[in-house]
Amino acid sequence: MSLTIAAIREREQGERRVALIPLVAQRLQHMGCTTALETEAGAASFYPDATYKDTTIRSDVGTLLAGADVVLAVNPPTPDMIARMRSGSILISFIYGRTHPDVVKALQAQKITCFAMEQIPRISRAQAMDALSSQATLAGYYAVLLGTVHMPKILPMMTTAVGSLRAAQVLVMGLGVAGLQALATAGRLGAVTEGYDVRPETKEEAHSLGAKFVETGVDATGQGGYARELTADEKIKVKSVLSDHIAHADLIVTTAAVPGRKAPRLIDAEQISKMKPGAVIIDMGAEGGGNCEGTVAGQTVQVGPAILVGPVNLPSCLSEQASELYSKNILNLLQQIIKDGKLSLDMTDEVIAKTLVTHDGKITNDGVREAIEGPARTAAPSSVSAPASTQAPPPPAAPTTGSKG
Ligand code: NAI
Repeated sequence: MSLTIAAIREREQGERRVALIPLVAQRLQHMGCTTALETEAGAASFYPDATYKDTTIRSDVGTLLAGADVVLAVNPPTPDMIARMRSGSILISFIYGRTHPDVVKALQAQKITCFAMEQIPRISRAQAMDALSSQATLAGYYAVLLGTVHMPKILPMMTTAVGSLRAAQVLVMGLGVAGLQALATAGRLGAVTEGYDVRPETKEEAHSLGAKFVETGVDATGQGGYARELTADEKIKVKSVLSDHIAHADLIVTTAAVPGRKAPRLIDAEQISKMKPGAVIIDMGAEGGGNCEGTVAGQTVQVGPAILVGPVNLPSCLSEQASELYSKNILNLLQQIIKDGKLSLDMTDEVIAKTLVTHDGKITNDGVREAIEGPARTAAPSSVSAPASTQAPPPPAAPTTGSKG
């Protein structure tokens, strides 16, 4: 019997992505698998059921889940859905287990082998599986476009019959995957660009995109290439340098995140009050609490002179290609665990060990287990664990489902 790989329709409000696109379904069939899809699962990302060739389309999700060896999703399925999965089957999805204990407990109860896409390690070999990066890239691009539709001015310099219009000043704060893409997009559209981050290595990356780098003299490089939280003194130092740049910007995109923590506050009410009239901030940290004082997730608000946009789930705005990249990320992971049409889990493989969250009724990820069961007194009863020296950094604060950088 061939392996059945099934994708469900996303239930979360505003979610338009799907975890399996027709092209990837075909690739899986070539690998000897059978593919199945919940009715209209791809509709919101413009993949109608009819485009999934040789794929079983099921309207009853219970039947779909009960017949699947591997279930694919974007957002964590509800505990009720997990309870309808076959015991011992595999789930691949964004999970954010630390903040979804009910989901993790349901996975344990049903003995699901669960791979959390946000846990894919940031190593060269796993880049093609890195869903956080693929989604953040699109989000960073879209954030700039979103900014332009709220701005009362254009980005490039333009010469007209009545004189020249100056190029807009764009400041990107937080130069991870999303921030660098935002910087590149704003530059391509003709803006004068500046970037800022607490990791000094981003200076070179900003320069390579034709942007200036705002030097604050603060180095907050943390574990695993991520940033750490700033101390109170560092925050004061950073503020004194940044306030001037914030005041001169026409568009600011903030993407700052510290794994496992609330989004760091980069811009306060005083700084906003000194911004140009009509200046726009796209706060990509909105879902994690906001990088700016006054951000309201999912809303656009006027705060003093500035327009503050708190987008939610930006990758979903580009659902067709966000689904394409996410589905290909999953395909690359599946190629690690399917050999000759059969499941073959090498628990010593770094990517598999670090991405696995639950297996055989146990929580296999140290960070998730600690968040749910509390600190272990003795050695944790993990059936699968990566060497301590190569443990992945903790995941970003949820809810993000790949919508943040
Ligand atoms: P992220 O979403 O965790 O954070 C976004 C950015 O915010 C980061 O650049 C971080 O330094 C910055 N930040 C945090 N606190 C800040 C503050 N107070 N002020 C200003 N900026 C602040 O980052 P992302 O995009 O997930 O990337 C994290 C790291 O992983 C980076 O070093 C990136 O280069 C690396 N990476 C490595 C990959 C690989 O090797 N396969 C793939 C993708 C990312």
